[in-house]
Amino acid sequence: MSRNPRYDVLFESVRIGPVTARNRFYAVPHAAGMTNTMPHMRASFRETKAEGGWGVVCTGYVSIDPSSDDAPLPYATLWDDHDIRSHALMTDGVHKHGALAGIELWHGGGSVMNRSSRLPPLSPSGTSWMATHVNFMGHQRPKLMDAQDIRALLTQQAQAARRARQAGFDIVYVYAGMGYLPYEFLLPEWNQRTDAYGGSVANRVRLVRELLEVTQEAVGGKCAVALRISLEELRARPSASAPSQAHEVVALLADVPDLWDVKLDSAPTDCAPSRFSSEGSHESVIDFVKTLTRRPVVGVGRFTSPDTMVSQIRRGVLDLIGAARPSIADPFLPAKIDAGREQDIRECIGCNICISSWHYGVPVRCTQNPTIGEEWRRGWHPERIEPAGSATSVLVVGAGPAGLECALSLGRRGYEVSVAEAADDIGGRLRFETRLPGLAGWGRVLDWRREQLQRLSNVNVYRGNRLTAGDILEVGYTHVVLATGARWARLLYSALEIPVGELHGPGVFTPEDIAAGAPLRSPVVVYDFDNYYMGSVLAEYLARGGHSVSYVTPAGHAAASTIMSNEQPQVHRALASASVALHTLSRVTAFAGGVVTLATQFTERERRLPCESLVIVGTRFADDTLYGALTARADEWQGSGIRSVTRIGDALAPGALVDAVYSGHRYARELDAAPETLGYRRDAPLERRA
Ligand SMILES: Cc1cc2nc3c(=O)[nH]c(=O)nc-3n(C[C@H](O)[C@H](O)[C@H](O)COP(=O)(O)O)c2cc1C
Ligand code: SF4
Repeated sequence: MSRNPRYDVLFESVRIGPVTARNRFYAVPHAAGMTNTMPHMRASFRETKAEGGWGVVCTGYVSIDPSSDDAPLPYATLWDDHDIRSHALMTDGVHKHGALAGIELWHGGGSVMNRSSRLPPLSPSGTSWMATHVNFMGHQRPKLMDAQDIRALLTQQAQAARRARQAGFDIVYVYAGMGYLPYEFLLPEWNQRTDAYGGSVANRVRLVRELLEVTQEAVGGKCAVALRISLEELRARPSASAPSQAHEVVALLADVPDLWDVKLDSAPTDCAPSRFSSEGSHESVIDFVKTLTRRPVVGVGRFTSPDTMVSQIRRGVLDLIGAARPSIADPFLPAKIDAGREQDIRECIGCNICISSWHYGVPVRCTQNPTIGEEWRRGWHPERIEPAGSATSVLVVGAGPAGLECALSLGRRGYEVSVAEAADDIGGRLRFETRLPGLAGWGRVLDWRREQLQRLSNVNVYRGNRLTAGDILEVGYTHVVLATGARWARLLYSALEIPVGELHGPGVFTPEDIAAGAPLRSPVVVYDFDNYYMGSVLAEYLARGGHSVSYVTPAGHAAASTIMSNEQPQVHRALASASVALHTLSRVTAFAGGVVTLATQFTERERRLPCESLVIVGTRFADDTLYGALTARADEWQGSGIRSVTRIGDALAPGALVDAVYSGHRYARELDAAPETLGYRRDAPLERRA
């Protein structure tokens, strides 16, 4: 296959100051949870993107000084010369494949708490980010920066830029985005200074200009100097001399940076989940930048469609197609378009599990791409997999996310695979969930695997095929993999935060009942202590279907854990717009006679809500009926030729989609592997040299 000429424009080279990107595919700065403590994993992860065809591959945010310490969030450092080697591992890997390497130098200002360095944070006017969510809350208020602090900052940036050049980077950033220090100078809420750095827009831009200038001087024309900037707030602010303050800022700096990297301001709009935003959602904020500068412009927007990418370029919105999540979900996206294989792109589903992993402080993970972060420590490659270790056959029972990923990866290894699915179609829980508000995009998990499986003649999928233990013993496969999923329980939630006390009877439902079309009567109470997406999505679905719905949760917010995936603000907005009544910090204690009784968490004060249908979205348990039946007949396995029976995904331990896909993939990778190759290598920081 060869490249579709329609996409040729994406493969044109682009000059960025003194360096040239081989094409327009730009893997923008994004943290990967690996920091300087896992330098080989990090280098390998970024090298894989270069191998996959990205013209530029960037680091995540890299702190320039201990006064910018984001602990416990996983950030990288370039604080002294010892840090150089760790980054050089990445630039070597990226250069090996002909890509440019970019580094985002970062100072967090009043948005960090310096929990580890214990230095006072810094901000233009002593103002701090008063986050209301527990992950970002802190008590340390920043010091108001004086002239000496500003000079010190410029020196730190210059020193870090010099080190970046030594580490082999081709593009060095000034980062004025997302609430961090240079951005704080741009916004009047943060910046109430009365000196040359505050007041007018020209004054507020001064620090960014000076940071760009010292960076340029430090790299001595050897590296391009990029400016990453958030423009959403500024674009919304009126200006006396331009359409907005964002226009003023861009015009003032027009040709100072070699590259403009433009983005939005807050995590939920910048790294927008597909539940609430579509591909290309940044355009209305950043579309003017190219009209004010002659420098190339890169922007993001969960771009996975080459037609959308081409359109952005042809319409003069962007010069380079930036990607964080699409480059995680498919590091080989550019190579696939180049080879005319765009239908093979493993498209990001916009679930933001990757961003959750950063919030959790662990190496990046991805629902679509189970190999991400595992390139070095497990030796997994996103496009290559070991050939089968034996000529054996595998039966996979269940064609949900885990079963499909397992069958696909086993099929690619060359095993003879049969997939038996009890339902009339594949998909498992996603068959219903993708019909819920905002979740259609998650169907890409199925679509991609369905399409890929169709190309494998050694994998057969049998739908409408509910197997019993007897059937499995009769057909006699060498390995049996059970991906039979999990079931929602009708349990309530105790004051000790443990699911206890089954609630049965008319009017009590679980998500599976709704999926099966159970008739509900209003008013409905959705009781959510699962805390992920299902409770809020069901509440919205039922409300939009005409029910009067109350949403009850013992947590302080709706869908409390979605603070990690950037979805929570929009979840609240969605519930409000669907007129769902919200009852937080509340436990359901009883349900009878058209009334549900709530206990207020912590005070035990009782309240009652009218309720005809109670939907409990609490905990799930593995559906291991088939596993139990098979293990009860373990003495017959040998006679049937069965060597192993293994549970994967939710059937083993219920989790998020990302866990199911990973579990299926791991099984496939590890089948017939030598025991000593199982597990993973542990990375460690490079030793400091004397
Ligand atoms: C896991 C993850 C980590 C991120 N870390 C950073 C970061 O360190 N610096 C930064 O400027 N942006 C960061 N971002 C934001 C992205 O660079 C990008 O602006 C955003 O994800 C939108 O692009 P996309 O739609 O291509 O994902 C991160 C995004 C993700 C998903
Ligand atoms: S985790 Fe989800 S949002 Fe992140 S890259 Fe993967 S599919 Fe996309």
